[in-house]
Amino acid sequence: MKSLVVFAHPVPESFSASLHQAVLDELAHKGWEVDDIDLYKAGFDPILSEHERRIYHDEPENIEPVKEYVEKLQNTEALFLVFPVWIFGFPAILKGFFDRVCVPGVAFKLSEGKLAPNLRNIRTLVAVTTYGGTRLRAFLAGDPPRKVVTRSVRFYCQPQTLKYLALYDMNRADHTKRTNFLTHVRNEIKNL
Ligand SMILES: Cc1cc2nc3c(=O)[nH]c(=O)nc-3n(C[C@H](O)[C@H](O)[C@H](O)COP(=O)(O)O)c2cc1C
Repeated sequence: MKSLVVFAHPVPESFSASLHQAVLDELAHKGWEVDDIDLYKAGFDPILSEHERRIYHDEPENIEPVKEYVEKLQNTEALFLVFPVWIFGFPAILKGFFDRVCVPGVAFKLSEGKLAPNLRNIRTLVAVTTYGGTRLRAFLAGDPPRKVVTRSVRFYCQPQTLKYLALYDMNRADHTKRTNFLTHVRNEIKNL
C-alpha cells in the first residue's frame, strides 16, 4: 500500500513531531510504502502567488508550480495529515499546501460550476491532530479543521476509511494522557 504523510509543525521536539514519528514508524512496521512531506523542513512556500491565481483554472499549467507535490498526491493510496490546530484552523503552511496543490484537475474536476472528486486514488484518509482547547470549546468555534478534513478533503478523495484522531485539551494533558494518545494513534494505524 502506498502512503503519503504530510506534516506541519516547526519544532522537532514538539508533541506533533512525536505523533509524526509514530505515524511513520507504524506505517513502516506495516510494510507500507511511505512518502513523507515535512512542510517546514521542505521549506514549502504556502503563498498562492498572483501568477498561480491567474492560472488557477488553466489545466494542466496550473500544476506546474507544485508538480512534485501533485504527483505525490496522485500516486498515493493513503493520506495522513499530522498537524496542530492553530486559531481553530490549519497552520498556515498546511493551509497553503491545500490552496496551492488542491487545484482544479488535481483535487476536483470543475464542469459547468459543478465539482466532482478527483483524488479517488486515496482510499484511506487519516488526520492526527492536537488542540490546546477542549472539545466543547472547539465545537463552539465550529471546529473548522475537523469539518475541512471530514467534509472537504473527504469529498476530494471519497475514501473507504476516514479517521480524525484528535487530542483535545492538550494545554492540560499530562504525560499519561499524551502517551495514551500516542498509543491510540499507533493502534489505529496498526488496525488499518
Ligand atoms: C499560533 C497558535 C495558535 C493556536 N490556536 C489554538 C486554537 O485556536 N485552538 C486550540 O484549541 N488550540 C490552539 N493552540 C494550541 C495548540 O493547538 C497546541 O499548542 C498544540 O496542539 C500542541 O501541540 P505541540 O505541543 O506539538 O505544539 C494554538 C497554538 C499556537 C502556537
